[in-house]
Amino acid sequence: MSRSRLMHLAADLSHVHTDYLWSLPGEWENYSYYSGPEFYEDITRIAARGKMDMLFFGDSGGTPEDYGGDFRTAVRLGTRWPRHDMGPMIPIMSRAAKGIGFGITMSTTYQHPFHVARVFNGLDHVTGGRIAWNAVTSRSKNEAANYGYSKMVEHDARYDRAQEHLKVACMLWESTEPDMLKLDKQNQVFGDPDKVHALNFEGKYYNVRGPLPALPSPQGRPVIIQAGQSGPGMDLATSYADLQFSTRRTIESMKAHRQKLDTMLVDKGRSPRDLGILWSVRIQVAESLADAKRKEQAYLDAIPPEAGLIELSSMYGLDFSTLPKGARLIDAAEMVRAQNVHWGSFEELLKTTDPALTIEEFGRQFVTDRILVAAGTPAQIADRLEMLHEETGANGGFMLARGFSAQGNIREFVDYVVPELQRRGLSRKEYAGDRLKDNLLD
Ligand SMILES: Cc1cc2nc3c(=O)[nH]c(=O)nc-3n(C[C@H](O)[C@H](O)[C@H](O)COP(=O)(O)O)c2cc1C
Repeated sequence: MSRSRLMHLAADLSHVHTDYLWSLPGEWENYSYYSGPEFYEDITRIAARGKMDMLFFGDSGGTPEDYGGDFRTAVRLGTRWPRHDMGPMIPIMSRAAKGIGFGITMSTTYQHPFHVARVFNGLDHVTGGRIAWNAVTSRSKNEAANYGYSKMVEHDARYDRAQEHLKVACMLWESTEPDMLKLDKQNQVFGDPDKVHALNFEGKYYNVRGPLPALPSPQGRPVIIQAGQSGPGMDLATSYADLQFSTRRTIESMKAHRQKLDTMLVDKGRSPRDLGILWSVRIQVAESLADAKRKEQAYLDAIPPEAGLIELSSMYGLDFSTLPKGARLIDAAEMVRAQNVHWGSFEELLKTTDPALTIEEFGRQFVTDRILVAAGTPAQIADRLEMLHEETGANGGFMLARGFSAQGNIREFVDYVVPELQRRGLSRKEYAGDRLKDNLLD
């Protein structure tokens, strides 16, 4: 949704900023793990110093039990667990610094659109127009069970419901016109009823009368994020989203992804500039390339040996701990296909991976190489980000993700890399406005 070629910057504070990392020296020192707001208030101040656009919390209401048949490993290692509801943290964070926006995640499969529309209207008011919704269809089996489903709703059916969900949510945000509030004391008119509209929506999944019983919020409709990488995911993103997250990791696949989105956007009468992409990247900044590589190695060394299998199990809904030692990816193919979770991306792995690799060997690569890595001096990192940004149409930016220590890495990024990006005119020196939309549009 960017008009300029500015590089937008965000950080992912979902489980990827704590998975395995909590055991590294210095992590979370003097802070209570997840519970108190101080850690997140400090991150907000640091990120706002670098004029970053957004801090983002991913979410799932599930406890991973795909690996080993229960949740013991997830709890023991602290991976994808715990998953607190970070919504209550947002108002506190928003008071720690101005300018910076906040993204939180809510499921289109398990939450009703009326509830979602109401919560985000409230958060938009409280943050002064700095909230974004990451609309996810949810793929955790445990989450499905927590919401009373004996079987997870099938992938494409989840997206079908999501289409209607977003349609209704947007209608609710539009149901009160921006200038409906009159506060005319003389004539005793609080609001203009002609500017408030019922929906009377009756659909396949939802019946919603409306209107939203709330004053229009600063952004009206919050910034909408969608991270689906499949055909139906991209369809949803190009229909409603302002931002997409993507974890593509080669310049070719990034370009192909951008191209596909652009074609779909134009087909729907939208402009490619209406939907920016934030590419996930892990940044390791140091005074020399060798030092940056040493830092990356320390992170890799902190990851326990079974992490790869845990990640694969969580991604594909198959318990990889049950496979015989030495099994190869191809040996698991039919079992993965039967899970109906992510067959498309597994097929891609089969095509692009050395077939002789064992699943253990592959898992290790999978956990560390899943996203782009930019390691080196500030200038080297800026060079790489600039190249990736320009080559993909300078339409979005980057999100610090997977394997970054939340405070350390964000602070180093803000103190060393952002000034270099600003010097090159690639990222902003001041916020363009008070609302997240104003900054993303800039
Ligand atoms: C950067 C990023 C963040 C994501 N965050 C979440 C999240 O917080 N919760 C969730 O259930 N799914 C999350 N997803 C998963 C996507 O919503 C989507 O389910 C996944 O990318 C698979 O896409 P597909 O179903 O369209 O193939 C995220 C994906 C990406 C790339």
